[in-house]
Amino acid sequence: MELAGKHLVLGLTGGIACYKIAELTRLLIKAGATVQIVMTEAATQFITPVTMQALSGRPVYTSQWDARMPNNMPHIDLSREADAIVIAPASTDFMAKLAHGMCDDLLSTLCIARDCPLLVVPAMNRQMWQNPATQRNVGQLRADGVEVLGPDSGSQACGEVGDGRMIEPEAAFEAICAFFQPKILRGQRVLITAGPTFEPLDPVRGITNRSSGKMGFALARAAAQAGADVHLVAGPVSLPTPWGVYREDVQTAQEMHDAVMAATPDADIFIAVAAVADWRVDHVSEQKIKKTGDVLPTFSFVENPDILATVAKLPNPPYCVGFAAESGDLDVHGAEKRKRKNVPLLIGNIGQLTFGRDDNEVVLFEERGTTPLPRAGKQELARTLIVEIAKRAPKTGGPLLS
Ligand code: C5P
Repeated sequence: MELAGKHLVLGLTGGIACYKIAELTRLLIKAGATVQIVMTEAATQFITPVTMQALSGRPVYTSQWDARMPNNMPHIDLSREADAIVIAPASTDFMAKLAHGMCDDLLSTLCIARDCPLLVVPAMNRQMWQNPATQRNVGQLRADGVEVLGPDSGSQACGEVGDGRMIEPEAAFEAICAFFQPKILRGQRVLITAGPTFEPLDPVRGITNRSSGKMGFALARAAAQAGADVHLVAGPVSLPTPWGVYREDVQTAQEMHDAVMAATPDADIFIAVAAVADWRVDHVSEQKIKKTGDVLPTFSFVENPDILATVAKLPNPPYCVGFAAESGDLDVHGAEKRKRKNVPLLIGNIGQLTFGRDDNEVVLFEERGTTPLPRAGKQELARTLIVEIAKRAPKTGGPLLS
């Protein structure tokens, strides 16, 4: 589980976005975190401590004067075991207090007495967000090393539209997970292809394959969590875009090729995970092909561009990583494919049943030989692969060494 062993203090302040924290708490607990809820007086007007206790499975703290703590010092004790304090929603007033070091209730005192990171998830009306005082306070918080997550833009509970609404609970959850990952790809730009392609035969039919896109999307998420700027070129899949990832949707191999070639000059690392169709029909019928008695349709095919091989052949290619799914003799085909495509690293899927599954087992093919990795869930495996790729890819974005 992604947050196993992590202990979070989740602080709620006054705002209608408190309703989103019920779902955020559920997501954090499901991911293995323990969550200690602390609420300001104002927050209890929007959601009850009873609800938050039931969801977090722990007593909720709302007051500095709480006799449940043996030493009566909840403002010290509650944060000492915490890996982070998350303030969500963070009201205008609470951020002002944080920026000025004020501590006149349990939650603000806990924040100033902490020895762990602080994350705030702002939620407020657009005018309150835009107010120069709020912007000054946010700038001060950032300068103090506080992580500010959001806000989002869109329609607000007050009926107005603009910046200030709290990011959705799923996004807050993703940002919290990302916060705990080491930033081993900070400053790197990673281009990833994922999913199948769809090669049309006529306006309604086409040829595709069983790739679900799960491995490519998991790699995109892991790379973004590792601090990379991620551009994901996705074939037709129904998967949500990972937090912080720029996604471009395509259908055909040719479209995927064009999108990749346009993005390659800005990429430091290229990871080709997509199951690209090797062929397309040389003539796509403009009309739906009719069933006409005994005469069966026939199709002739032309080859699609090999995207990975094309990128690897460029004069100044990014660090290229390929994938291989074989129906047999992976040892032979993996090594041969890596050489033929001229890539430093090729990741071979062990077994044929990886498509659509939530776990996977792979072996790394390199010039110096092979390295098997243990079977794992695709997200965990993606994180391991990102570590392996980060170790091998040339570092960029740092200061030039003379
Ligand atoms: O299909 P094949 O086994 O050759 O795929 C191996 C690798 O090459 C994968 O990383 C795949 O994304 C990439 N590839 C590609 N363009 C193609 C075919 C495969 O980029 N037309």
